[in-house]
Amino acid sequence: MDKLMKSDIDNIRNSVDIVDIIGEYVPLVKEGKNYKGFCPFHNDVNHPSFSVSREKQIYKCFSCPATGNVFTFLMEKESISFKEALKIVADKAGITLNIGYVKEQVNPFSKMYEAYDIAFKFYRNNINTKEGIEAKEYLKKRNIDEDIIKEFGIGLSLSNRQILSDLLIKKGYNIDMLVKGGLSFLGDNGYYDMYYKRIMFPLWDTFGKVVGFSGRIYNGDSASKYINTSETPIFKKGELLYNYHRAKEEAKKSKTIIIVEGFMDVIRCYAAGIKNVVASMGTAVTREQAMLLKRLAPNVILMFDGDKAGEKATFACSDELSKIGIDALVVRLEENLDPDEYILKYGSERIKAKLDNPMSIMDFKLSHYRENVNLENSTQKAEYVQTMLNELSRIKDPIIREITLQKLSIDSKLDKTFLEKQLKDIDSKNNVKVSKEPPKKEVKYSKYDMAQRALIYYMLKSKEVLKIYNNKMPYMPDEKYRLLAREIVSYYKINGIINTADLITELSQYNKELVSLVGEIATSPFKDDYSLDEIDDYIRVINEYNIKVQKKEILEQMKKESDPMKKVQMAQKIVELKMRGDCKDDK
Ligand code: CTP
Ligand code: MN
Repeated sequence: MDKLMKSDIDNIRNSVDIVDIIGEYVPLVKEGKNYKGFCPFHNDVNHPSFSVSREKQIYKCFSCPATGNVFTFLMEKESISFKEALKIVADKAGITLNIGYVKEQVNPFSKMYEAYDIAFKFYRNNINTKEGIEAKEYLKKRNIDEDIIKEFGIGLSLSNRQILSDLLIKKGYNIDMLVKGGLSFLGDNGYYDMYYKRIMFPLWDTFGKVVGFSGRIYNGDSASKYINTSETPIFKKGELLYNYHRAKEEAKKSKTIIIVEGFMDVIRCYAAGIKNVVASMGTAVTREQAMLLKRLAPNVILMFDGDKAGEKATFACSDELSKIGIDALVVRLEENLDPDEYILKYGSERIKAKLDNPMSIMDFKLSHYRENVNLENSTQKAEYVQTMLNELSRIKDPIIREITLQKLSIDSKLDKTFLEKQLKDIDSKNNVKVSKEPPKKEVKYSKYDMAQRALIYYMLKSKEVLKIYNNKMPYMPDEKYRLLAREIVSYYKINGIINTADLITELSQYNKELVSLVGEIATSPFKDDYSLDEIDDYIRVINEYNIKVQKKEILEQMKKESDPMKKVQMAQKIVELKMRGDCKDDK
């Protein structure tokens, strides 16, 4: 493994806890010895089927094939190479790795990233040319000064509609890739730049690499105010948040992240000294984005536009957050203003005061559902109370529950203990839903499968079983088990010790299928300890299976054989096999 020793890699893996790292992506709840959550590798909305073992330092989904250790998790989740995953884990563990060592990996989309970097620099430069004068004036009118232009890498696409494509092609980038990457498109008369005559806002992924653009019109008219990069292999709008990489530090420090709708809002907040801000860029917040927010900070403030659409977005986003265990905080702006307009109109102190005093999501909902309700009207009142109780049952924080219940009781003049009881009923109904087990895929293993799996399970746990296997060398009839057993033995021979998570590191380099198999077996519900009799029994069953398979093969050959002498020989073989089997059974 290149310059790093295997033991270094194992040490890096060992210096972090997989539960902490996966916990940054997936909310995990302790359940028995393991941690459970929704699987991030398939659309696992209803039933948490993802399990992380602290003891074994591996994860496994019971509904999809996802399994592995902390490295494979990061590789899959972040679409990165092993070395990059190693770097991330080392960083978390506070271990310094030689950066050069990590950088040399080849990303399948490295050309696309490169092209974006060139485009970014090209656009950024354009804004300082003669053609950029008008754009700069526009920005100036919007109170965007030089410092902000620099900080956010704001640029300009020119009126020449092929200039960037030409430049990139000349540098050796392939036009198909540029089209696929969303920088160029093919028209009737050849290729064109995707953007022209627009102010260009670079969009970054969570690592801070430019992976897309949003281009705004600033002169002339066009059907669309903004043109955004569409989905590409490196740009998935629903999986990133504008300004994530820049907001990270401040969010961690202040334990608070603010989400707004537009990137202009982010830029304005930033200029006003509010730096822990990200934007969803106008689309409904996805589960992945909610997860990103959760990774940034425990307190999430939703500060969407002051209009009806912003109110709707507040509901939707808080729902998404509540699904992953976050009770959102809310700031509402008056006069239908967005944060950009609000700051320009009222100044930064006023919005900061609002941000220092956000509403709980329940206060927001309370005031929303209370609007236009006539409490003299019993039907309206009942509906209002019922809605609020339903909302409350989704809230985790007991103090917010208590406070809200009290407010509701005062407002509705209904006895608080009565409301409490109603809420409890809803809770218990909801809990039934939550704790329903996932529809486990019923996999029935034959006794031969079970014997091979059990043997491997205990080989992974115990040197003693490994040695027994090595001495008796039962031939595992199923190739996949045989290969895995062989890997385990050779791993043990080389390292003198066996550890499932470290074995996975090794297997993940060259045999992904065996990674799934080993993860599957290591998380199977075999009991913790074994007796030597049981181990002997597994080996006996495996041998029995071998004999059975061989007998079947010979019988089949016999059917095809016409030479009577050969037939007799074959029959003899079967008798021998049968005897061998019987001897084993007699023991
Ligand atoms: N948006 C978009 N396309 C549009 C309008 C909006 O992609 N035609 C996205 C942009 O990412 C924008 C966000 O939705 O940042 C919020 O939209 P809006 O509130 O209209 O943007 P503003 O920030 O108000 O933009 P501006 O002030 O430049 O008009
Ligand atoms: Mn605006």
